[in-house]
Amino acid sequence: MRQRAEPSRPPDEIDAGAAVLRRWLVADLEASCDAVLASLEHLRPWMPWVADFSRASQAEYLAGCEREWQSAESFNYAMLVDGAIAGSAGLMARIGPGGLEIGYWVHPAYTRRGLATASSAALTGQAFALPGIDRVQIVHDELNVASGGVPRKLGFTATGRRPLDHKPLGGTGIGVVWEMTRPQWHETVCR
Ligand SMILES: CC(C)(COP(=O)(O)OP(=O)(O)OC[C@H]1O[C@@H](n2cnc3c(N)ncnc32)[C@H](O)[C@@H]1OP(=O)(O)O)[C@@H](O)C(=O)NCCC(=O)NCCS
Repeated sequence: MRQRAEPSRPPDEIDAGAAVLRRWLVADLEASCDAVLASLEHLRPWMPWVADFSRASQAEYLAGCEREWQSAESFNYAMLVDGAIAGSAGLMARIGPGGLEIGYWVHPAYTRRGLATASSAALTGQAFALPGIDRVQIVHDELNVASGGVPRKLGFTATGRRPLDHKPLGGTGIGVVWEMTRPQWHETVCR
């Protein structure tokens, strides 16, 4: 009988330098709720899910992370600094064949230390290690200047704009699309 091929996935844990990325587990419920609750006002302008945040919604999110890890629809990680949750970053298969999108947020006690940049660099490298992936995007609201600093610093190219699925409170709902291609990344890393 022919075996069905297992989907390719990045590792459960990635050393991103400034942080360790460890895939979200259902067992992270208490610690992740604490991290989000401490970050609510910082996240509110840009993360639409904050409006409905609760222990139950977080439990649902973590269960979804597990499900989507298994189906290879998304690979979501806790950012850990000295074992504490400092944010979240992930790769999502929602931009069509051959592409993965990176998303991130950082706890306000850990911002401006390069965590989002280091995590995105590590995830970009992991994305291009997966078979068939030839582009990685980062998309943020056009008013989210802080988020735009991450792809800019990593050498992504701003390729256009598109409406976001959900308008964030602090934004216009128009997203800036930044893209890195596989050849561009190899050139950046090997330079
Ligand atoms: C956007 C966010 C993830 C950045 O995380 P971070 O770990 O602080 O980012 P980094 O330290 O890697 O910063 C990378 C670059 O982004 C820019 N940047 C980051 N924060 C900034 C800010 N508050 N104001 C202006 N530029 C900023 C800078 O260019 C910075 O480089 P520099 O520190 O060398 O000047 C964080 O502020 C956050 O969680 N914001 C709320 C949630 C959010 O917007 N998520 C993204 C949705 S698309």
